[in-house]
Amino acid sequence: MCEKILYSKEQIKNEVERIGKQINDDYKDKEIVFICVLNGSFVFTSDLVREVELPCSIEFMQVSTYGSGTQSTGVFNIKKDISCDLHNKHVIIVEDIVDSGFTLYNLKEYIISKNPASVKIATLIDKPARRTCEMVTDYVGFVMDKDEFIVGYGLDYADKYRNLPYVGILK
Ligand code: IMP
Ligand code: MG
Repeated sequence: MCEKILYSKEQIKNEVERIGKQINDDYKDKEIVFICVLNGSFVFTSDLVREVELPCSIEFMQVSTYGSGTQSTGVFNIKKDISCDLHNKHVIIVEDIVDSGFTLYNLKEYIISKNPASVKIATLIDKPARRTCEMVTDYVGFVMDKDEFIVGYGLDYADKYRNLPYVGILK
């Protein structure tokens, strides 16, 4: 199915545990609102929140992404919004991958407009080479130096391959 496995199930598990521990340390005595960016980050979010030993709630948002191809549409569009009040809350936006940064840049601005106490970004994969928007990622599983289209562990190509337990390069 995949030409090459880039990050194995075990490697991903280790990174998710590491990020979870880091969040437990950083947010001691605080309550977190995780925002899972659908659809891609549903797998990462569900594994990550189970490493978190602090009170937290999990919200879901869906914004415009790549459509059915591998090119960014360049349009930011909220398809599914959150209904909770983020005022004075500590928010962590959970993404599968940050590529151009366009999606997260716009999403973060939107979240900031709701006056939270803080906003951080957790992403399983960071592709900094492709960045066109200035975007700082706070918790990162893997930094990818290659510019390849990857699938698995939530990441799709035309809505397929999200169920792969590893991340691989598509044939
Ligand atoms: P950005 O706005 O360019 O940062 O794109 C972010 C979104 O594009 C991610 O949330 C993914 O849904 C999608 N994306 C970017 N690169 C890949 C990839 O290599 N495989 C699958 N989806 C990707
Ligand atoms: Mg996505």
